[in-house]
Amino acid sequence: MGRLVQVLKTAAIAGTAAAIGGAAFYSTLDVQRRFELASATGPLVRLLDPETSHRVGILAARMGLFPKETRPDPPALRVNLWGRSFPNPIGLAAGFDKDAEAIEPLLNLGFGFVEVGSITPRPQPGNPKPRVFRISELKATVNRYGFNSEGADAAAERLERFWRRVAADPTRKKGLLAINLGKNKETEDAGDDYAVGVLKLSRYADFVVVNVSSPNTPGLRALQGRKQLQSLLTFVRDARDGLEWGPGGPPPLLVKIAPDLTESDKADIAAVVAATGVDGVVISNTTIARPESISKYPASREAGGLSGPPLLEPTTAVLADMYRLTRGAVPLVGCGGVASGEDAYRKIRAGASLVELYTAMAYEGPVIVPRIKQELAACLERDGFASVEDAVGADHPNIPRPGKKKGAGKR
Ligand SMILES: Cc1cc2nc3c(=O)[nH]c(=O)nc-3n(C[C@H](O)[C@H](O)[C@H](O)COP(=O)(O)O)c2cc1C
Repeated sequence: MGRLVQVLKTAAIAGTAAAIGGAAFYSTLDVQRRFELASATGPLVRLLDPETSHRVGILAARMGLFPKETRPDPPALRVNLWGRSFPNPIGLAAGFDKDAEAIEPLLNLGFGFVEVGSITPRPQPGNPKPRVFRISELKATVNRYGFNSEGADAAAERLERFWRRVAADPTRKKGLLAINLGKNKETEDAGDDYAVGVLKLSRYADFVVVNVSSPNTPGLRALQGRKQLQSLLTFVRDARDGLEWGPGGPPPLLVKIAPDLTESDKADIAAVVAATGVDGVVISNTTIARPESISKYPASREAGGLSGPPLLEPTTAVLADMYRLTRGAVPLVGCGGVASGEDAYRKIRAGASLVELYTAMAYEGPVIVPRIKQELAACLERDGFASVEDAVGADHPNIPRPGKKKGAGKR
């Protein structure tokens, strides 16, 4: 027994010394080195199964182990949208922080916005494990989480605490906060669930995303059909507008769509977006398609949504289609396979006002955030665009955008 106590004491002293030494070493690093150090642990974390690595990432963020961006963003990256000012257009997509556990550390990475969720009204466990699979060779993922969520009340408590901290010190909040709403698996009338999400959570959001495109909840994607979408979005919009809002008005309402759509599906969605006055469209969620290029990897045969680089081409094509169909009148958020500034720039030229990513962060770690921003600023400068806003939709010279300078940048 005495020997055990001695061993524990020695271990405690060694641990404390290592922590003090580590902290002293860390304090000598500049911001960029801190991002690189945090990302260098990625290969170790990826020795764990994908869901455990995901959990470790969230815990590390919560424990303050993520680096903090202190360098200002290049002014060319600032985006003004919906009367809100985004320090840069690069966001963290839904699914990483499903339960709003790590908002502040994630914003501190330098994202222009972080989208938490999908949050379902009631807690639910999601699909049985394993439910996330890597295709490491392609830096891609297949997941069928199925909306595992601690529910809207648990999220609301965390969001309340976050906003209280921000009220005490507004400088703590560096970017914007989006809240992505899902529905419970068992709920028959989807509208009720999204309305509950709006009632319980929209007051905490800089913008709200209605997710009707996860492939892992039976029947969800059918909500993208013209009639269903029209009545769903009208119902949710009315639920939002029925609440009391301050002088800033209600948060914008966006809808997140799938990439697996026919031409007439896309035309229908564009028509519904125009008719309901929805404020934007996130394009897109993961795909149930399996491109030929991934068929040799065992994970490609798993049911679920594919994300990462194989999604870049097809989702950018859907984004460009939606920009054309909406005549550039509705802000679009480009998502799918973004892993570099050049990828983000392609989405912006195709019509995205904002861009978000998830899988690249899982493979590359936090260093992806400053890297993408720097590369994107270089792309804009190379092509003669003064700002992100000038480059939005540049691939569609025939669609005029109000306020856009004619002839700005190379087309
Ligand atoms: C593990 C995982 C979980 C996800 N969970 C959600 C979710 O809960 N809600 C949602 O709208 N999208 C979810 N997504 C989709 C992402 O937000 C994003 O649309 C998609 O992964 C494409 O972007 P990426 O290629 O940058 O990952 C998830 C993606 C992954 C990889």
